[in-house]
Amino acid sequence: MNISKNIISKNIEIFEQGNKYLMCTYSRLPVVFVKAKMQYLWDVEGSKYLDFIAGYGCLNVGHSNKFVVNALKQQIGKIIQPSNIYFNQPQVKLAKKLCEITGFGEKVFFANSGTESIEGAIKLARKYSTDNYNSSRYEVITFKRAFHGRTLGALAATAQSEKQKLFEPLLAGFKYAELNDMDSVKALINENTCAIILEPVQGEGGVYPADKEFMKSLKDICSEKNIILVLDEIQTGFGRTGNMFAYQNYGIYPDILVVAKSLGGGMPIGAIISTNKISASFGPGTHGSTFGGNTASCSAGLAVLDYINENRLVERSKKLGQYFIKKLMKIKNKYSVVKEIRGMGLMIGMEFNEPIVEKLVTDALKDKLVINKVSSSTLRFLPPLIITKNNIDRLVKWLDVNIKV
Ligand SMILES: Cc1ncc(COP(=O)(O)O)c(C=O)c1O
Repeated sequence: MNISKNIISKNIEIFEQGNKYLMCTYSRLPVVFVKAKMQYLWDVEGSKYLDFIAGYGCLNVGHSNKFVVNALKQQIGKIIQPSNIYFNQPQVKLAKKLCEITGFGEKVFFANSGTESIEGAIKLARKYSTDNYNSSRYEVITFKRAFHGRTLGALAATAQSEKQKLFEPLLAGFKYAELNDMDSVKALINENTCAIILEPVQGEGGVYPADKEFMKSLKDICSEKNIILVLDEIQTGFGRTGNMFAYQNYGIYPDILVVAKSLGGGMPIGAIISTNKISASFGPGTHGSTFGGNTASCSAGLAVLDYINENRLVERSKKLGQYFIKKLMKIKNKYSVVKEIRGMGLMIGMEFNEPIVEKLVTDALKDKLVINKVSSSTLRFLPPLIITKNNIDRLVKWLDVNIKV
């Protein structure tokens, strides 16, 4: 592809070298960002962009948030990687804090990413099931359109055939139900079911929230049959959906909670949070991660949690989410090409009746707005939670001008 024709930024060399030296696993957009602060990004020429995707939902507290940066600066000069055969202070502090704020957690395992944490959660659920029942009880139910990561176990949980089929055979024992259809779940449960994994709001699959009734029924059936309910809150966690965790919108607790993304404020981190009873199945030698829970990522995590709390970002996400959806509904009522607006808090999908999204994303970038597509007909908005009403108004105004039909 002759990318130089479309490049917004004049930094052609980085595109040429990027295409030459990096594997092409992403269709990269024609801009290079060199600086970022809270909800803004700057390209090599100094043009300023407003961000509505926040590093794919990693930056609830904003880009290079100064509290996170200061915490990192203070930590990395002391010790970064003592290794996990020793306790390290930020890791223990962050584990304690996560247990406190989840309301059910008693033990934490730290990893480096979402997908690595999902792998660990699958292992923990299967080990618990083997310890308490038998080794044939290893089946896992996930949901069509789900996204749980790219490594082979997480990919088996990611019920999207176009992503899976290139890498078969996948990890065995996964079955796929329909979101919000309890009958489809019941039809898959048998004596070998050990876990059900779901995103409370499917993100990458198109921003589809689970219904309240459905989530409650899932919890009930998991409790009744001692099936482990794993909630993947990698994208929905830390205030994104108008509560600290999305499960609080449903009035239930998971058995295992998986988080990553925004916990690190831009630093790589993931975590598996569970009860003492389930975590007892992870004894010495059962699982591990060299870098997981290193002092740098954990001190960033501590700063993120403090910042969210001190700046009331959870309440902000709820309020601004309602404001944003109201504004988008006005656009929907004006243009027949808009099919549906759905979401929770500041996690919002905008679906169109036609495949116009690719063009919207590139046109928005030219107008210094960073938006994201999850399919040819659906936009996903995941702005930093520190975004303002004025920022939202700017994007909505732009959509009003640029959505025709
Ligand atoms: C819900 C969900 N689970 C898992 C993942 C994988 O996380 P990572 O990219 O950190 O491996 C993602 C990433 O987008 C996600 O949104």
